[in-house]
Amino acid sequence: MSTTPVLQIQDLNAWYGESHVLHGINLSIASGEIVCLLGRNGAGRTSTLRSILGLVGNRTGSIQVDGQEVIGKPTHQVAQMGIGYCPEERGIFTSLTCEQNLMLPPKVGNKMAMSIDEIYEMFPNLKERRSSPGGKLSGGEQQMLSIARILRTGAHLLLLDEITEGLAPVIIQKLGQVVRTLRDKGYTVVLVEQNFRFASKLADRNYVIEHGQVVKTVERNELEASQEELKILLGV
Ligand SMILES: Nc1ncnc2c1ncn2[C@@H]1O[C@H](COP(=O)(O)OP(=O)(O)OP(=O)(O)O)[C@@H](O)[C@H]1O
Ligand SMILES: [Mg+2]
Repeated sequence: MSTTPVLQIQDLNAWYGESHVLHGINLSIASGEIVCLLGRNGAGRTSTLRSILGLVGNRTGSIQVDGQEVIGKPTHQVAQMGIGYCPEERGIFTSLTCEQNLMLPPKVGNKMAMSIDEIYEMFPNLKERRSSPGGKLSGGEQQMLSIARILRTGAHLLLLDEITEGLAPVIIQKLGQVVRTLRDKGYTVVLVEQNFRFASKLADRNYVIEHGQVVKTVERNELEASQEELKILLGV
């Protein structure tokens, strides 16, 4: 079995123009792990995900995907390595039907691309709504569509930004099941979350980011003992 991390970030600094937003991020994710990036608003979690794909300005340090350095590579090439990014704003086409949205994504990986039937098995709601325009779907359905779209590409490393934001508890619970199923199918998942309860139930490891740095790493088995400290760090 390979021990090369699926994602390894070392001493990552990143800028938007003159604005220096990441100050030496370090983190590592093994195949099949779920890790969570926690932090307050503006901490640098989205910027960490965007840095992986080269969607920020300048970057220094190292970002390795399956052992290959990606700093310096253009975004499309990094995505081709099998990365699926589900942005905060969901990125679905509101005027296209649910099914048309699912037919569009380009292939990036080679082995894990899900068929439409597999997608509909995992997201029965999307099957029911297959002919509805994306813009007419509920918030929860749009979020599921946004995740389903990246599963169609064949990506094996999934970067999911705030998927629970603004959704009802019953939908959040469904998303939790989806993330667990994805882990069972062999995907590697990075979750960016504000919802600490959601994240802590799923994550093998949590990284707390503050001012563009990892200020605390909490493994699943340390969660109980770190509760109070985490609450203070996250202001919850
Ligand atoms: N496009 C941009 N141009 C300039 N600065 C940005 C840009 N996007 C984010 N920033 C700044 O970078 C810092 C980190 O933001 P980031 O979006 O990574 O935070 P976050 O942890 O995802 O928080 P949240 O999503 O709650 O805002 C913040 O100070 C933010 O204002
Ligand atoms: Mg963000």
